[in-house]
Amino acid sequence: MPADMILFDLEDSVVPAEKETARSSVVGAIRDLSWDDRVLCVRLNGWDTPWTYGDAIEVVSGAGDRLDEVMLPKTQAAAEVVALDLLLTQVELNSGLPTGHIGIEVQIETARGLLNVEAICSASARLEAVVFGPADFAASIEMPVLTGGVQIDQYPGDHFHYVFSKILIAGRANGIQVIDGPFLKIRDLGLFRDYCSRAHALGYDGKWAVHPDQVAILNEVFSPAQEQFDRAWAMLDAYERAGDDERKGAVMFGAEMIDEASRKMAFKLVSRGRRAGLQRSEPAGP
Ligand code: GLV
Ligand code: MG
Repeated sequence: MPADMILFDLEDSVVPAEKETARSSVVGAIRDLSWDDRVLCVRLNGWDTPWTYGDAIEVVSGAGDRLDEVMLPKTQAAAEVVALDLLLTQVELNSGLPTGHIGIEVQIETARGLLNVEAICSASARLEAVVFGPADFAASIEMPVLTGGVQIDQYPGDHFHYVFSKILIAGRANGIQVIDGPFLKIRDLGLFRDYCSRAHALGYDGKWAVHPDQVAILNEVFSPAQEQFDRAWAMLDAYERAGDDERKGAVMFGAEMIDEASRKMAFKLVSRGRRAGLQRSEPAGP
């Protein structure tokens, strides 16, 4: 599967009776299977359970340096991230891993987590990403729904807009990636695409796949379109070509005024497109 990252779950998809045996299955999978250069992450159980420290110790010491990150679900406060950071430092020391090797992703999926998201996103140098968890979040705020994250017909608008924006700004202010969580109606790929577009339009970096069929749609929606990528390149060229005199102010790009801020937007799109493997199209001939 062309997925950028693989997330092994020890949390809500594992029943309590299997929590401890699941750790060695995950370690075995990380060590014994071939994962190319994909980012590998394990979702631990949160600090409101008895399993967090055992998960971290067994998984990080067992998986060794092939494990890139751990995910902390239901993060409610910065102190939870600090506690995990300290624990990881000791596990790394005892396992011969460089200090700071394991990154942290936090999931925001409770009312308290959202209130504290700004402090959470700046709580550790290990932080790589902040992830929204729509299902747990809907339960936490007592939304009258049975499927987290999907539109509520009775509500005139996007009931999660504030939540998405708040998480996005907290993540961006701290230079970490911002990711949308799962879409559970796995047979409805059309609706999945709509929800990918919603998160992408706001500026999110990606969204989870919980089924192989979702991966291609994610890659398509979250990569710049070829036309947009080419336009961004052309804008960079136009800005570069404009003489220094002209660039004292703004310059024209077709019918549009562009300036330093336009260059930054274009640069970000080009970087994102390159990471997605896009190449600039040959300019059309005369
Ligand atoms: C994911 O963990 C969610 O609760 O949506
Ligand atoms: Mg959850």
